[in-house]
Amino acid sequence: MSSLSNKRIILGVTGGIAAYKSAEVVRRLQDQGADVRVVMTPAASEFIRPLTMQALSGHPVHSDLLDSEAEAGMGHIELARWADLLLIAPASADFIANMVHGKADSLLGAIHLATPAKVAVAPAMNQAMWSHPASLANIDALEQRGVTIIGPDQGIQACGDIGPGRMEQPDSIVSSAGSLFQNGLLSGKKIVITAGPTREALDPVRYISNHSSGKMGFALATAARDAGAVVTVVSGPVSIAAPERCTFISVVSAQDMLDASLATAADADIFIAAAAVADYRATTVADQKIKKQGDNMTISLEKNPDIVSAVALANPGLFVVGFAAETQDVETYARDKLQRKNLGAIIANDVSLTDIGFNADDNEVIWIDRSSSVIFSKRSKTQLARDIIEHLAKNQVS
Ligand code: C5P
Repeated sequence: MSSLSNKRIILGVTGGIAAYKSAEVVRRLQDQGADVRVVMTPAASEFIRPLTMQALSGHPVHSDLLDSEAEAGMGHIELARWADLLLIAPASADFIANMVHGKADSLLGAIHLATPAKVAVAPAMNQAMWSHPASLANIDALEQRGVTIIGPDQGIQACGDIGPGRMEQPDSIVSSAGSLFQNGLLSGKKIVITAGPTREALDPVRYISNHSSGKMGFALATAARDAGAVVTVVSGPVSIAAPERCTFISVVSAQDMLDASLATAADADIFIAAAAVADYRATTVADQKIKKQGDNMTISLEKNPDIVSAVALANPGLFVVGFAAETQDVETYARDKLQRKNLGAIIANDVSLTDIGFNADDNEVIWIDRSSSVIFSKRSKTQLARDIIEHLAKNQVS
């Protein structure tokens, strides 16, 4: 699977003779599985018709910052947030200078400022313009900000000059774009992740559950997807948005989560159990709302199935990762759980600390497998998830 598969790319086209090649860039990006939206500057439309780009990309072309119809569809901020990559090809000398100064006088300029996505530019200009100290300083400034510069190519130019400044060939632009997502560490791997709490009914209106937010499981799903995996999330009831571009299976009880996990893990490569499964459920679930009776009441509970153990047992070739929330002797208890549940690795954290773990945005964990342990010091769950996925991919997945 290509590292551009499922990636959302805004192709920015600025004015220059090379703009005709951006049609080819759209095609090549799509061949790699990317979802492409085109944004053109007014000057670009002098070189290639927006209709051509619309037909190729299969979506309306965005060009005007003040177009109320386009803004009503996908506004420029929304578009900026939507993207994984802003790729500007061709990028004219003028547009590059505008980027350096953070100008937002065009739709593309505004998107450039608003996007959290990676940014890459493929410059295209006359060789003398490219070699001018101003252009070179501008390129240097963009590079220092983390913008990827693709090319330019050398050769005969449209004006007859020979030298550097031609836009890179579409093939090599697309391959450079692909290498920006070269965390294709889990390309083609199938991962199932359980997340959130489970809810165990007592009667039609009451249940037993816990405060798990689902954040850690969802962050792992996003990180695994970004690493190229095909991800299925089996989640209990949570109030945060489902991770995008993952198959999402919503469940309620531990039994539902077990059924969905066994069904999806059968053809997976990796199973990560990040859910906080209720340990017990009611022995019988009342059909009607249970009435108040006397000062005390007793509820009879029975043990829930252990999902991660059942999945590990049913799928001997699967790499299974569990979590362990402990309040003391974290590593000792976690290691015991690793053996008992037949896991490939366990991620342990100390839940006696209130600023990390359960329902918090940060976490600090120890990765423990049969031969080693690695400490991941306190960081955001998003960053931690990326680091865990990278560690898992590099060390455990063949
Ligand atoms: O036994 P304990 O609940 O501490 O184990 C935690 C790990 O086991 C987590 O990975 C959790 O998702 C998983 N688990 C499970 N099914 C259960 C209980 C825990 O999959 N019934």
